[in-house]
Amino acid sequence: MGIAVVTGGSRGIGLATAARLCREGHQVMLVARKVDELELAAERIRDQMPEAVVGVCPANLREEDAPSAIFDVTEEMLGTVTLLVNNAATNPWAGPMTELTPKVMDVVYQVNLKAPTIMTQEFARRLGVGDHQGAVVNVASIGGLHVEPLIGWYNVQKAALIHLTRQFAAELGPRIRVNSVAPGLIRTQFASMLVDAMEDQLSRRLPLGRIGEPEDVADAISFLLSQDARWITGTTVVVDGGNEVMGMF
Ligand SMILES: NC(=O)c1ccc[n+]([C@@H]2O[C@H](COP(=O)([O-])OP(=O)(O)OC[C@H]3O[C@@H](n4cnc5c(N)ncnc54)[C@H](OP(=O)(O)O)[C@@H]3O)[C@@H](O)[C@H]2O)c1
Repeated sequence: MGIAVVTGGSRGIGLATAARLCREGHQVMLVARKVDELELAAERIRDQMPEAVVGVCPANLREEDAPSAIFDVTEEMLGTVTLLVNNAATNPWAGPMTELTPKVMDVVYQVNLKAPTIMTQEFARRLGVGDHQGAVVNVASIGGLHVEPLIGWYNVQKAALIHLTRQFAAELGPRIRVNSVAPGLIRTQFASMLVDAMEDQLSRRLPLGRIGEPEDVADAISFLLSQDARWITGTTVVVDGGNEVMGMF
């Protein structure tokens, strides 16, 4: 069984992924900024699975030295990390690209692209040489595959994350596989405004008849991290209830 780091593991897709990985017998470190939410998340997992080995590591992924501290803490508590889920992201602003400020550019880039890059560098370096096998999943978005109004810069980072996935896959094989998922609209805190505004309309249009739940994405991530995906790397799995075949909302 593996040792996994899940960024943004305190709620939403990250928490569902952490719970799913624990259910499979992996040991999991949850990373987010708010320690109370992290502890609550770990407790929720332990309530469902008393045998789960789950730790918490408060960190702000905007900070350049956070990845190295996260790996230090995880190695000390659990051992060498073999599975990495770059899931945390932020989007503090919505509007047209012409009004995007350098401050927003920096924040979104730091959390959504720079942090996954440094986390993956750190992961590969610490996995070392030899027989160790590892797997990484980056949580992108269908917004990284299409143009949408108002969240252009966020989507630019998601498009770059999809390419980062391919680049790392090429450089880190054969020992480390790197894939991404591109979720459609998922019921989480992050997307709550969109869910409130669009759930009914979107559900009617989607071939699978509903918006996504965090577990829908967690299951795809778990597959990509597993041995069942042993000959899959550099790809992006779209998890969107069929949104792709209907065109954009
Ligand atoms: N929900 C959707 O519809 C949707 C669709 C497509 C893609 N996605 C992607 O799915 C991923 C997870 O999103 P979600 O919807 O599950 O969001 P969420 O429920 O809001 O969870 C976001 C997580 O990221 C953590 N986080 C945010 N900023 C951080 C920072 N600077 N440092 C460390 N941790 C940070 C949050 O904890 P703290 O606030 O405590 O730091 C939280 O654990 C993201 O990559 C998002 O872009 C979501």
